[in-house]
Amino acid sequence: MLLSKKNYMHYTTDDLRNKWLEFYAKKSHAIIPSSGVVPENDPTALFINSGMHPLVPYLMGEKHPKGVRLANAQKCIRTGDIDEVGDATHLTFFEMLGNWSLGDYFKEDQIAWSFEFLTKVLALPLDRLAVSVFEGDENAPRDDEAAQIWEKVGMPKTKIAYLDANENWWAKGETGPCGPDTEMFYWTGDHDDPELQKPYQETWENPNWVEIWNDVFMQFNKKPDGSLEPLPAQNVDTGMGLERTVAVLNGQKSVYQTDAFTDILTAIAKLCCPENPEKAAAHCIVADPLGISMENDSARVIADHLRSGTIILGDGVIPSNLDQGYILRRLLRRAIRHGRKLGITTNFTVKIAKVVIQKLGSAYPELKKNQALIEKELEREESQFRRTLEKGEKEFEKIAVNIKDEVSGQQAFDLFQTYGFPLEMTVELAEEKGLTVAEADFQKAFKAHQKLSKKGSEQKFAGGLADHSEKTTAYHTATHLLLAGLRSVLGDYVHQKGSNITEKRLRFDFNHESKLTDEEKKAVEDYVNKAIEADAPQLLEEMDKSEAKAQGVEGSFWEKYPDRVKVYTFKDAQGKIWTQELCGGPHAESTGKLGVFKIKKEQSCGRGIRRIKAVLS
Ligand code: ALA
Repeated sequence: MLLSKKNYMHYTTDDLRNKWLEFYAKKSHAIIPSSGVVPENDPTALFINSGMHPLVPYLMGEKHPKGVRLANAQKCIRTGDIDEVGDATHLTFFEMLGNWSLGDYFKEDQIAWSFEFLTKVLALPLDRLAVSVFEGDENAPRDDEAAQIWEKVGMPKTKIAYLDANENWWAKGETGPCGPDTEMFYWTGDHDDPELQKPYQETWENPNWVEIWNDVFMQFNKKPDGSLEPLPAQNVDTGMGLERTVAVLNGQKSVYQTDAFTDILTAIAKLCCPENPEKAAAHCIVADPLGISMENDSARVIADHLRSGTIILGDGVIPSNLDQGYILRRLLRRAIRHGRKLGITTNFTVKIAKVVIQKLGSAYPELKKNQALIEKELEREESQFRRTLEKGEKEFEKIAVNIKDEVSGQQAFDLFQTYGFPLEMTVELAEEKGLTVAEADFQKAFKAHQKLSKKGSEQKFAGGLADHSEKTTAYHTATHLLLAGLRSVLGDYVHQKGSNITEKRLRFDFNHESKLTDEEKKAVEDYVNKAIEADAPQLLEEMDKSEAKAQGVEGSFWEKYPDRVKVYTFKDAQGKIWTQELCGGPHAESTGKLGVFKIKKEQSCGRGIRRIKAVLS
């Protein structure tokens, strides 16, 4: 059921984003730019998945350069349910509007502002709104305070529900900042529905109530043992999903009906049927404001995946078989496959990316800045994948000649393994010939292969911290000296971005914009070799994290370490500290035993990130 006419809003995504930022600017918030979608200091996540994610260090007590009141629109990527995209609600990229108090205002102001924003700025009818607050459990008390404030600002008591921790407790993950929250809901059903008149406590499970905003009162840090410790300050963290909220306010049943997707879907439709605009429109949801018909799945998958693909490329990730690059590759390839389903046979991803950049380039200027790179990488990946598909198809034809009913799991796996030919393609081609595919056997072969390669990577990994052999320990210490050398030659802004050690070499990633000159490389090598010559002994200390920070100890991923940390220092007889770094160890007894340090390779590995390979001989 749709909203009755008079209750339609007509917001665009730009409208809502602008209203949000203007509102919080008026409430003395610094409007900060969105962070890139690749987390800078969080090895546990591939992508930024909420507005607060890049702000974790500040929610944990670090000082933010822009002050204690912040707001923004943050690019978020959630690819956990990539295979479900294509339905009406899932998105792999979305924008989250957020505002934060770092130990400044708390419940009173936040709830009053939430009410003001919803009922005054967005002018939502009060009788379609409801809120939930935390009912309390053994960890934290019932949030009567939040409920009272809601009532005071004007929310009818009957529209306030107390719900349990599943609904009203927010945590970023297994550990980290968390707290009770209060969520706001909008009634998307008919205005005359008697359900709307009942107390919210009784109707909160009715799917017509859709969450539009979450205010988290972030007071605790959840430790790895599950216990809660109070954070240094009482923070507020709020989030509103932009595309979803616009859809809800406009009475649209799907995010794909909002303006965030109109131009993209129209462009896709034109690609499918360039000579027949009417048919083109029928291919795509824009012609069908109510329907979420199955034919349109492919158009939605393409629109979603190329939106996230463009965003991820815009932050400097390129398609690869690893980590973020792998997810990006999957998104792009899935989009290309669905393009083929719609009959698009030539490269098209760049055309769609242009539309995405046109739409989002003002809010996220990095897209415009990196447009040439985005287009180049898309063109390359798409051409390469199309060649893969062609080759796979040829191979399939060869095999198929001798198959009567079923393509075996092993045959499908060989196509995948040797030609990178996706199972879905094999199934598709098989269907065209009236054949089936032993998909369960394919999965078995795939799992067996995964196990093997996992073993392989465990072996590779064995050179890391788990291996205490003398050689890897030496490389571990050399890595600390290398970082100290880079910081001394290039500047203190240099930090570790990644590291991998085997018995044969070290590999080290760090932030730096340009290629190292020969002189710089030589100076870094000299630093390390001088430290080795100085034969500085190891000093291992345990101290409070805050003390280590205050002393200027070098470390990345501070928030991942426990409160007591190990600090490794190598200091020579003259008192010179060659390196002092936060680390789990182990390390060489002294630098003298490392050998001679040589940089073998220095190259880019992502925007603003350099990679060094070096050996000890
Ligand atoms: N961090 C909170 C959320 O993602 C606001 O819902």
